[in-house]
Amino acid sequence: MQIEEIKKVANINKGKNLKYCILTMGCQLNENDSEKLCGMIEQMQYTKTQELENADLIIFNTCCVRENAEDKLFGKLGEVKKYKEKRGTIIAIGGCMMQEKHIVEKLKQSYSFFDIVFGTHTLHQFPADLYKILSSKKQIEDILDIDGEIIEGLPIKREDKIKASVSIMNGCNNFCSYCIVPYVRGRERSRLPKDIIEEVHNLAKQGYKEIMLLGQNVNSYLRAEKEKQISFEEYDGVNSFATLLRALNKIEGIERIRFISPHPKDFTDDVIEAIRDCNKVCKLIHLPLQSGSTNILKAMNRKYTKEQYLTLVEKMKKQIPQVTFSTDIIVGFPGEEENDFEDTLDVVKKVNFEQVYMFIYSRRVGTPGDRMENQIPEEMKHKRFDRLKKLVEEQIAIKNKEYVGKEQSILVEGKSKTNENMLTGRTDSNKVVVIEGKNNLIGKMLPVKIVSEHMWYLKGKVEE
Ligand code: SAH
Ligand code: SF4
Ligand code: F3S
Repeated sequence: MQIEEIKKVANINKGKNLKYCILTMGCQLNENDSEKLCGMIEQMQYTKTQELENADLIIFNTCCVRENAEDKLFGKLGEVKKYKEKRGTIIAIGGCMMQEKHIVEKLKQSYSFFDIVFGTHTLHQFPADLYKILSSKKQIEDILDIDGEIIEGLPIKREDKIKASVSIMNGCNNFCSYCIVPYVRGRERSRLPKDIIEEVHNLAKQGYKEIMLLGQNVNSYLRAEKEKQISFEEYDGVNSFATLLRALNKIEGIERIRFISPHPKDFTDDVIEAIRDCNKVCKLIHLPLQSGSTNILKAMNRKYTKEQYLTLVEKMKKQIPQVTFSTDIIVGFPGEEENDFEDTLDVVKKVNFEQVYMFIYSRRVGTPGDRMENQIPEEMKHKRFDRLKKLVEEQIAIKNKEYVGKEQSILVEGKSKTNENMLTGRTDSNKVVVIEGKNNLIGKMLPVKIVSEHMWYLKGKVEE
């Protein structure tokens, strides 16, 4: 870790009352990386501001999973150029997009006012990069093509006091043909069991109640290490994702454990049994479908069929009482015909998901999907997206009604953002529940009775 560099920058900055602003795009892995960046930056004597114009240091943590994520960066860069000109703000751009060569080229051509670009494998070197800029003012490119090591012990400044995310592995080996992630995050590398367990123990000590385990394919935790015969030390019997769940379930103080994302092809029986047996592991399982058509799944390189997906869901419904599902779906993948799309609708009807994250297929440079000839016209993609959305919303409306009158256990997360006098929490199935109650309920698990439903939240009453 860069303790020396952190100290050097802190010395330069001391007493200057400097501010930083960070903009994070993309998934929870990026959010988690940003919390680590904030941890380092605050040790270097910057305080956080939400206003770009007041910042002395602006950091973009970027995402490239879909085109609209990329557009967001370019839009914002146009805006920050004037702050750079006015007050010499340091502009640092990091994250997944920076691992794409054509993007870094574009930045150099058209947005050359940036100070630092850094990639996903060099996050921990940010203090050194910043020191170089402060002392030499020369533009810095700190990007590695090879997979970086997992760096433990980075300071972290967490946004939330009740829920914390814990990354358990980096990278992805699956190469789904639409997806850019394996190219920008590298191959799968798992953290050591001991490091994860100690982190969760610490979180429990600090009062955290819910942890979200993060990885691109969490149920292949430690698999790459086993395949490559890289020795790793077991700790508390942990040598797989299932045993990790069991070990974390024993940690006192932690009330809930969630994880994203598992891959259907790797959902082994030991994981199903661990979810069933561990009382703290939430029974909402995020099981990315992507498409309900076996042909499209094959073209996507997902390695399961429509039937195998449905069989897996049935098996879990039988073995795990109260299980619910959420999913990701892409519409308009190359070659998707009407009957393929109807297979997707069919799976949605059969599984009856609690939540569906829907995406319009976006061509990503360098992926096999981008090279396929049978691309779907934009208008067709949008029409299918709207049809899927309509079905999902109808299903959710029916599901919400079923909650009314039932008792649910919620973890109270904080004050409601829209109403000061109300609190919000979530059910095991991740539904937002708004209740009346005093602030001392924040952080507590409570039984509540659901009294009414709305599209995006439920209203509950605390059981006396
Ligand atoms: N590793 C995770 C998450 C990957 S990114 C998983 O496998 O579930 C999150 C979601 O973005 C994916 O599940 C997929 O539905 C969507 N996605 C990825 N690439 C995409 C693309 N090129 N176009 C549209 N959606 C995409
Ligand atoms: Fe992308 Fe597939 Fe890996 Fe998920 S499993 S990150 S969708 S390649
Ligand atoms: Fe985006 Fe990178 Fe996550 S591409 S979805 S931020 S892993």
